[in-house]
Amino acid sequence: MPELGVNIDHVATIRQARKTYEPDPVAAAVLAELAGADVITVHLREDRRHIQDRDVRVLRETVQVKLNLELSVTPEIVDIACQVKPQQATVVPEKREEVTTEGGLDVVGNFDAVRRTVEQLQAAGIFVSLFLDPDPRQIEAGKKLGCEAVELHTGQYALTSGLAREKELAALVAAGKQIRELGMLLHAGHGLNYQSVIPVARIPEMRELNIGHSIVSRAVLVGLERAVREMKELVR
Ligand code: PXP
Repeated sequence: MPELGVNIDHVATIRQARKTYEPDPVAAAVLAELAGADVITVHLREDRRHIQDRDVRVLRETVQVKLNLELSVTPEIVDIACQVKPQQATVVPEKREEVTTEGGLDVVGNFDAVRRTVEQLQAAGIFVSLFLDPDPRQIEAGKKLGCEAVELHTGQYALTSGLAREKELAALVAAGKQIRELGMLLHAGHGLNYQSVIPVARIPEMRELNIGHSIVSRAVLVGLERAVREMKELVR
């Protein structure tokens, strides 16, 4: 069975909308862990739009399951990762203007920059995963860098439907096979929801799925009724 990595970035997105202290992603991590999360995932972005440096430090001390830090090859962020030492780092591409991570990392086109990052993280004892499209050339390049795992980008699969989705799923299955045959661990994530997750979880030897937006979205809805009742009680 794959492990579930719960990405709590968007708990911090709500907090940062008011630049206040709540909701605290650390509290969310504790609850996710109690509910059975195997991994807690956060992305420390260059623009700090959601997760802050302090969150990462406190999460490292609080989270009892694996902490997976998503990061770009930016030296400042890589240095923070090496100081905090999460158990796992997932290297992702990052553009300031994007709403969320768009596409996998271009290892082929940025081989030296990715290599420096992988070497630095591994020297700090961090297990390294690369976020890649299901593209054989990128996976091959990831293997050359000696990374331990590849997280397949499921965004394209999640965005499509019908025959197009079948095609995207077949590409993920083939890439999964290539990753395993090259001796790396298979992870996947991005854009998965309560429907689209099932076929991806069934890909042979899938080890870890990282899911954020759809879990936080559902949490808002399933928790809203209770939150309103509690406030109504106080008002009364
Ligand atoms: N995996 C990676 C590498 C990501 O960058 C993200 C988004 O931060 C996710 C998984 C989770 O994506 P989503 O929030 O769409 O579930």
